Amino acid sequence: MSLDISITRSTKPRPKPPANDLGFGRFFTDHMFLADCDAGTWSNGRVIPYGPLALDPAAAALHYGQTLFEGMKAYRAKNGRAMVFRPQLHAARLNASAERLCMPSLPEEDFHRALRALLELDRDWIPGATGTALYLRPAMVATEPFLGVRPARRYTFFIIASPVGNYWGPKPSALRLWVETKAVRAAQGGIGAAKAGANYVASLLTAEQAKAHGYSQVLWLDSTHTHVEEVGTMNVFFRFGETVVTPPLDGSFLPGVTRDSVLQLLRRWKVPVEERPVAMSEVAEAYDRGELKEVFGTGTAAVISPVSELTWGSRSLRLEDRRGAVAERAFQALTELTHRGEPDAEGWLVEM
Ligand SMILES: Cc1ncc(COP(=O)(O)O)c(C=O)c1O
Repeated sequence: MSLDISITRSTKPRPKPPANDLGFGRFFTDHMFLADCDAGTWSNGRVIPYGPLALDPAAAALHYGQTLFEGMKAYRAKNGRAMVFRPQLHAARLNASAERLCMPSLPEEDFHRALRALLELDRDWIPGATGTALYLRPAMVATEPFLGVRPARRYTFFIIASPVGNYWGPKPSALRLWVETKAVRAAQGGIGAAKAGANYVASLLTAEQAKAHGYSQVLWLDSTHTHVEEVGTMNVFFRFGETVVTPPLDGSFLPGVTRDSVLQLLRRWKVPVEERPVAMSEVAEAYDRGELKEVFGTGTAAVISPVSELTWGSRSLRLEDRRGAVAERAFQALTELTHRGEPDAEGWLVEM
């Protein structure tokens, strides 16, 4: 049986933020969606005015990290409705994260109905300009007040929405990445592939240290510090000569929806592409031979971001300060697709 959803409209609509200065995650829409889960059964779906959650201080999420989230984007359709990019993959990944973190799964149909219910009320918040979107943040937290260490029995699922511009600010430049050789973000067999809050807190200290030295983000390696995994909030691609290579999904980093989309585009375009382990030594050797043609990150928030520098121990590999040919083609294709305001042949945009 699908979840019942009640609607309570806000009586105090907020002013819309300036379209040219959205930044990322600074503004929130008028409403939010919530639903509760008790012993595996979801109920009380509701869209209500955006506001604070009441949590018992003993709620398991606050102590043992049973929290997960998703991140996806809605674009404005020509007919005034919302178009959400690949929501099925986000629903599937939410449930994969939930399984790993001993949290309840949410039926995909309820995930879609929840998105629809929220977008029905907050559709006006979808910014129209190219490069902007309404970022949707579904999340699940354990709410049961209980201090013993075991999976909680009660959870709240919620979706909030934020009109966003470019993740890297109004004038994004290519990224300078710090290749981390001591700390690890996640290990094989751990929770690295789940979109768990814990993976992000594990990355903060190193990211702050990198930022203090002028780097934009960290390029994380595996726990032996040999092979490349991902960037702080993006998956990573390398072009060696004509071949584009990205690390295979090994369970220790996030299976990105943008990564999957870029792989599909490259295969459609007959660009040679390989999903295989990439050793940092291979990257440096390719650079020395002049074969490292481009490096770029992919993610919902950042779309496709070129990398202009990789600092790995005493080595500094420098690339052009703009998107290379493959990154540019993929960026243009995704931007055109998401901003065309109509369904696409692939069915990646879902009207809501
Ligand atoms: C750690 C991490 N890796 C990769 C990605 C890219 O995933 P996606 O393309 O699904 O946004 C993200 C962004 O959500 C992320 O946070």
